[in-house]
Amino acid sequence: MDALIRVSDVSKRYDNGGPFAVQDVSLQVAAGEAVAIMGPSGSGKSTLLNLIAGLDRPTSGSVMVAGQRIDSLSETGLARFRRQRVGMIFQFFNLLDDLTVADNVLLPAQLAGLSRPLARRRTDQLLERLSISEHRQAYPARLSGGERQRVAIARALVNSPTLLLADEPTGALDTATGEEIGALLRELNAAGQTMIMVTHNPDLAVQYAGRTIRIIDGRVAGDSAGAGDSAGAGGRHVAGDEYLARAGHDGDATTARTRP
Ligand SMILES: Nc1ncnc2c1ncn2[C@@H]1O[C@H](COP(=O)(O)OP(=O)(O)OP(=O)(O)O)[C@@H](O)[C@H]1O
Ligand SMILES: [Mg+2]
Repeated sequence: MDALIRVSDVSKRYDNGGPFAVQDVSLQVAAGEAVAIMGPSGSGKSTLLNLIAGLDRPTSGSVMVAGQRIDSLSETGLARFRRQRVGMIFQFFNLLDDLTVADNVLLPAQLAGLSRPLARRRTDQLLERLSISEHRQAYPARLSGGERQRVAIARALVNSPTLLLADEPTGALDTATGEEIGALLRELNAAGQTMIMVTHNPDLAVQYAGRTIRIIDGRVAGDSAGAGDSAGAGGRHVAGDEYLARAGHDGDATTARTRP
């Protein structure tokens, strides 16, 4: 596989001598893939996503994204990497409440150094594409959950990221709205956007991701792309149906912790 993301023997412990949140994980993701990460609450899914996002550093092992080794970058290098390469969306949207919809989307473009007219044009295009143009001057508090997640997706895409990373993007939405957001993510992937999505929803994983990686106790316990792609760490083939069958064993999304 021509890997866009190459995670090699990565372990993460938050405290020296404490337990491993992620242990000996190796996996590769190719450009254009849509990957779901599933597993019980506390199994290390968000930790793994944050390591790929450059929001955190592994205790050991390496993370390569687009040919760049990100675990050894300086803080400035990491900030640049995140700005240029990564768009992230979260369960609770993480919008800035005192900025309008348009300014929430505009802000990261301006931080990335895009000229104001260009940033505006890009923002307008995305708001249009995500069907939230009519709310461009509204404040997030006035929007529904689904609308807020659309704004968050627009914000994540404004700098044309190499990777779209989503941590339980439908976890706070009702079923119908969650399906809308899922369909939107699938469209983005069909248009070429590489994405990794942590989800507790097996339907979302099966319908909107071409591949599901299962994490248990910080380790890869299954990879529907086949054992060959999950390079060690107990990777084995687990079909989508088996994920569906196991869904009842997953933690409940409503009890999931999130970090800002
Ligand atoms: N900032 C932190 N400091 C210390 N321990 C942490 C921190 N973040 C996560 N952990 C621990 O690391 C382990 C993995 O947590 P993580 O948040 O990655 O799990 P998760 O699979 O995303 O769970 P959930 O489905 O509930 O969101 C847990 O034992 C958790 O308590
Ligand atoms: Mg999590």
